[in-house]
Parts: sequence; C-alpha cells; structure tokens
Amino acid sequence: MPRLGVNIDHVATIRQARQTVEPDPVWAASLAELGGADGITIHLREDRRHIQDRDVRVLRDTVQVKLNLEMATAAEIVQIALKTKPEQVTLVPEKRQEITTEGGLDVIRNRERVGDVVKQLQDAGIEISLFIDPEADQIEASRELGVSAIELHTGCYADATSDMAQLNELRKLDAAGKAAREAGLLLHMGHGLTYRNVIPVARIAETCELNIGHSIIARAVLVGLEPAVREMKQLITV
Ligand code: PXP
Repeated sequence: MPRLGVNIDHVATIRQARQTVEPDPVWAASLAELGGADGITIHLREDRRHIQDRDVRVLRDTVQVKLNLEMATAAEIVQIALKTKPEQVTLVPEKRQEITTEGGLDVIRNRERVGDVVKQLQDAGIEISLFIDPEADQIEASRELGVSAIELHTGCYADATSDMAQLNELRKLDAAGKAAREAGLLLHMGHGLTYRNVIPVARIAETCELNIGHSIIARAVLVGLEPAVREMKQLITV
C-alpha cells in the first residue's frame, strides 16, 4: 500500500497572492495529517513564489510525519536543507518561468552537480529521491549516485488525451518501476495525479509513495482538506 505525501505548496500560493499570513501552510499540514497523510511535501523554490523560508522552519518543528522537501540544486537552497534536515529531499529541476515543475531531472547531464548535492545531503543524514522521467538510463544514473529512491514524473501519463496514450504512458511507468526495483531503488510517483487517474499508478506493485498536490488542494477548497486527503488515501489503498 503506497504512502501518501500531500504537497501543500498551493496553500502558500493563496497566501502569497495577498502577501498576508493566511491560509497558513502549517495549519494545512496539521489537517492533512489528520486526514491520513503519511508525509508533507513542500517545494522551496528559488523565487519563493509559494513556500517561504519561515514555512520550512516551522513545518520542520511541527510536522509529525515525514517532511519531504522538494528543491533544486541551488547552493542557497542546499544550505537551507542542511540546516533544516527534512527526513527526505526530492531533487527537482527548476526553471523560473515555469508554472510547475516541467519534466524530470536530467541526472546524466548534471551528474557532477547532482552527485555533489546528494553527497552533502546524505552526509547530513537526509534520504534522497531524484525526480526523473521514466527512462532506463536516468534510473541507472540515479542508482550510480547511491540515492535511496526515485520519483517518476507522471505528468505524461496525467496529460495523455486518449485511453491508448494513457495506457502507453502507464506501461512506461510500470517498466520503469521494475527497473527501479532491480536497481534497488524505492519507487515514488508524482505530478498531475488526480482522484480520477491515480488508481492504476497506485496499483503498480513497486509504488511505495505518491506525492500529490494540486488535485487534493483543489478539492479541499470545496470540501475541506481533511476529507479531501482521507478520500485520496482511500483511493490509493484499494
Ligand atoms: N512531485 C514533484 C517532484 C513535484 O514537483 C510536484 C509539483 O510540485 C508534485 C509531485 C505534485 O504535483 P501535483 O501538484 O501536480 O500533484
């Protein structure tokens, strides 16, 4: 049964829209935990468009489940991670103009920098997951860097516009899941997952963690965060 990591960035997005103090992602994390979240995921972006440094500090002190910090390899953010020591860091690529993370990390091309950051964070006792596309050579490069987990980018699966295209993408995720297991890597999944498309991904045997943000927060606006998380948790448990 996969664990559910709830990404609460969008709660901070609403707060930043007015540059005020509410809604506080710290409250959101508590409600997500009450709804059954196994982890809280936040992305501290270099442009600070949603999560702020203060959020990382306060969440570190208050989150009772696993805190998963998504981040790029920028030196400034690495220093914050080393100081805060979340249980897990997920390294992601980051572009200033993007609306959300586009594509996985190119571990092959950025092997040196990614390897350097992985080592620094691992030396501080932090588990590392690399957010990559479901490709065999990226999985192999991740294994070579000695990380414990990879998170497969499920965006292409989520964006598929026909049943056939979706099945194709699901097969790629499934094959990548098997390759991850053979490489001794834990398998996480995330990006674009919703109440409608999550079940086949949750059923991939190797999937042990799902990180979901937008769909849960979108539903929470209408039904409340605790029920929205509980509903997602029930879906991925079947
Ligand atoms: N996993 C990673 C690595 C991400 O960058 C994001 C988006 O911040 C998510 C999961 C969650 O994606 P979504 O908001 O589409 O559920």
